[in-house]
Amino acid sequence: MIILDGKKLSKKIEDSVKSDVLVLKEQTGRTPGLAVVLVGNDEASQAYVNMKKKACDRVGFYSITHEMPETISQDAIEQTITMMNDNPNIDGILIQLPLPPQINTNRLLELVSPAKDVDGFHPYNVGRLTTGLDGFVPCTPLGVMELFKEYNIDLKGKNCVVVGASNIVGKPMASLLLNADATVEITHIYTKNLKEHTLKADIILVGVGVINLIKEDMVKDDAIIIDIGINRAPNGKLVGDVDYENVASKCSYITPVPGGVGPMTISMLLANTLKSAKLSKKD
Ligand code: GUN
Repeated sequence: MIILDGKKLSKKIEDSVKSDVLVLKEQTGRTPGLAVVLVGNDEASQAYVNMKKKACDRVGFYSITHEMPETISQDAIEQTITMMNDNPNIDGILIQLPLPPQINTNRLLELVSPAKDVDGFHPYNVGRLTTGLDGFVPCTPLGVMELFKEYNIDLKGKNCVVVGASNIVGKPMASLLLNADATVEITHIYTKNLKEHTLKADIILVGVGVINLIKEDMVKDDAIIIDIGINRAPNGKLVGDVDYENVASKCSYITPVPGGVGPMTISMLLANTLKSAKLSKKD
């Protein structure tokens, strides 16, 4: 069993982003800039935004966080997004999700300029991804693909079962796998008898936020397990969606939590923001 070390790979990617930033600054005088919109007091969202900001600092990006109260209006957020769309110092715009119930999330995601959509959530970029065209790809599934590349895991013809059908993880993950010539099945909360599906999988990719959802008897020998879940266990520890202790020994490869997919998400956000900054240089 080989552990897919996202911490190590994300460090390598960060180092490469950092040196590219120096070159970009030298050649153009431009510093990549990321703007984050954070609404309300959700602790997990605050922690994620904090990690993203620190990562920007480490690689020499400019970053700004627009913190807004839970009761903020749709109009006020839309004005902020429009302002960031028009600001030439901002290359990437990220709206931390989820948003409070009074906010129409889809309308906001559509308002972000597709050229600054470093989360890859705008329907324009979603369409480009499903068509197999270049664009911005959501950071978490993109990070998983980088792990496959780093460990030379060939996806062609593999049976992949994605557990979870969110716009942030499951659906873009499935598109990327399909674009890489894998056979892809998406399962979700209404899927009957999940085990029947996962047992056939060469690769299981799970990100639903349910502790120990994937157990030993749901995994075939030598499967590859990608755990995209992040949960706080009753003992305070961070755990994924896979019963790691009992599943790991059966696998050929597995991602740990923490230290697997999580750090890759952050480094892909940096990579996407750098990509945007490099493209805007050519305008
Ligand atoms: N909330 C949970 N994951 C994500 C993410 O990848 N991007 C944003 N913007 N919000 C999230």
